[in-house]
Amino acid sequence: MSNDFEAVRRKVALRFREPTKLPKEIFSDEAIYREELQRFFYGPYWHPVAHRAELPATGSFKTTWLAEVPVILTRTADDEVRAFINSCSHRGALLEQRRCGVAAQFECPYHRWLFGNDGGFIGAPGRKEFRSDFCETDYSLVPLRVAEHAGLIFVSRDSLAPDLQSFLGAAASPLADCMLDDGRLKLIGYQKVIYQANWKAYIDNDPYHAPLLHAAFRLLNWHGSKGQLITTRPYGHMCILYQINHYVDNGFLNDPSAISFLGTDDRARVVALRPVTGITKHLDTINIRFARPLGVNRTEVSYAFFGHQDDTPEYLEHRVRQSSNLLGPSGYISIEDAAIYNRVQLTTNDGGYARFVKGVGKPRDQWSQNDEASNTEWWAHYRTRMGFAPEGSADG
Ligand code: FES
Ligand SMILES: [Fe+2]
Repeated sequence: MSNDFEAVRRKVALRFREPTKLPKEIFSDEAIYREELQRFFYGPYWHPVAHRAELPATGSFKTTWLAEVPVILTRTADDEVRAFINSCSHRGALLEQRRCGVAAQFECPYHRWLFGNDGGFIGAPGRKEFRSDFCETDYSLVPLRVAEHAGLIFVSRDSLAPDLQSFLGAAASPLADCMLDDGRLKLIGYQKVIYQANWKAYIDNDPYHAPLLHAAFRLLNWHGSKGQLITTRPYGHMCILYQINHYVDNGFLNDPSAISFLGTDDRARVVALRPVTGITKHLDTINIRFARPLGVNRTEVSYAFFGHQDDTPEYLEHRVRQSSNLLGPSGYISIEDAAIYNRVQLTTNDGGYARFVKGVGKPRDQWSQNDEASNTEWWAHYRTRMGFAPEGSADG
């Protein structure tokens, strides 16, 4: 913990009296941001970084980031998914910079050291003249812990992270629903956006705004659906399970086919996994939002869209059209999100508070999907984890 952070922590703790009233500087303070990287992104949590569908064959790899740490995921000959820090064990160059591909080995471009996709050192030019105590196993790529649920691959840097099922708790089942239960997904594409907002402002945004902020939500007559809300303790994962209203042609869209439903399972799901991943299943659109902070006020979100391996070509084509038009960063439903995240971020230096009111005060088991209270479970955990809560507080 830096001295910078300790000074800020004391000041923020005085203002962070309850998880329903957030001192806005937590969204803009550089020392807090640096500390969050250590406590959440490199701490005892699990972070979704890929779905197995993105590693479809033996030898497939994907590169990504865990906050500021470059990560490479590989599918090895024994069909294991492995994860490593994507940095050469020699002088530290980024080992692989392609987004994805197939490779049994990775050669560093700098001095040509060679690594297997199991992370092991294979060889290097000039090897005979290396220092006499050079031990190859000391120069493997640095591994990360890997765990999987319904094909969704999580990594952790911290040996103290609990087992994945304990981490997910009651979010495990809705998460599997999003992966169509058997997890046999097929990648259909990505959209990427950089939001001008702190990572917490991004993930905190859902769900209490859709019918209010999004014009298309009203025009498509999707507001008012009743659902079940699940929040977990201590992490505050949040899941909304509901039955979608199907669009009845009201002339709003010239071509409503993009939002028609062609599947058999129209149970909608919204899952927010802490610290910063959103997963949705909505009509025929299956979407994992892999997010990473790029700094205190920028968040990159890579929207990955999926179908099922058993889909017909026509159904997959429909999923592509719907995914592109509905819930991505420029979709009918989500197009206002980027603007509102930024409007929230723009006021974070004014010394004020962000407050939660709707549903607050009701017993936890009476919170509904349309209550703001549901997010406060996470904020209680955050407050404790960051040392902003009073000593001995029961939060989190
Ligand atoms: S830094 Fe990779 S081979 Fe030297
Ligand atoms: Fe939204």
